[in-house]
Amino acid sequence: MLNKLVFEYYDRVDSTNDRIKARAHAGAEEGLVITADVQTAGKGRVGRSWKNPTGVSIATSALIKPTDIPIESVPTITTVAGMAVRAAIADVTGLEASIKWPNDVVIGGKKICGILTEMEMQGKAVWYAVCGIGINVHNKDFAPDIAFKATSIDIEMEKCRQEGATNLPDAVHRQDITEAVWRYFSRYYNLFLQTGDLSHLREEYEAHLANKGCKVRVEDPAGPYEAICLGITDRGELIVETDGMKKIISTGEVSVRGIYGYV
Ligand code: BTN
Repeated sequence: MLNKLVFEYYDRVDSTNDRIKARAHAGAEEGLVITADVQTAGKGRVGRSWKNPTGVSIATSALIKPTDIPIESVPTITTVAGMAVRAAIADVTGLEASIKWPNDVVIGGKKICGILTEMEMQGKAVWYAVCGIGINVHNKDFAPDIAFKATSIDIEMEKCRQEGATNLPDAVHRQDITEAVWRYFSRYYNLFLQTGDLSHLREEYEAHLANKGCKVRVEDPAGPYEAICLGITDRGELIVETDGMKKIISTGEVSVRGIYGYV
């Protein structure tokens, strides 16, 4: 169970994930959260780098010790974290975010955060995991290669204001979002730990699943096809229907997009 969160804030680190790993090796307890104003060597998925300009975005990582779950369940922690980011953004900013399967948090059809979960084993069991989250908050623009699919909280709040929304806060603070993310994470993670899967979280996940009930394009290496997105299994696989038949899609096997764009 994740019961206690201890927040540490730094001006500058290499990578908040790497700082958590170092502290895990030095004996830190579960629930340590390290957040930095800027990362000099932020890491993304599949060996990519992750840029977060000073004072603009959130880079935050937590130490967790899911020692009783099977290793195969560890990647699902990324999905749990995606749910926490969505809920925290809705709570703190009032923005309606959704989840693009499996764990991209999107607003207005664009991605607002990145999540990298890493783990270390001791023998055959999980020793600890680090869940690292980067959220675009005050970013005004993005590099041309990602501009089509990236957005920030400030950009989306401004869009809502221009569309007439009057109930949004004047400004958002990164620390409020960070702490809300990890509070929601604790709640969802403890439910996840009870079963090692999403059975207690599936309903909430599906309530915010982008494209649920809509047509999606499944980029299967064996050939792309169109299908209706129905929901997820307890293990977090996507359930789609194509030609009257249900298909189960595993993370990493294929990517799924809406018919008209990134989401
Ligand atoms: C992705 O490629 O989408 C995942 C990006 C994860 C970035 C976050 S920022 C905080 C934490 N520290 C890192 O070095 N990476 C993660």
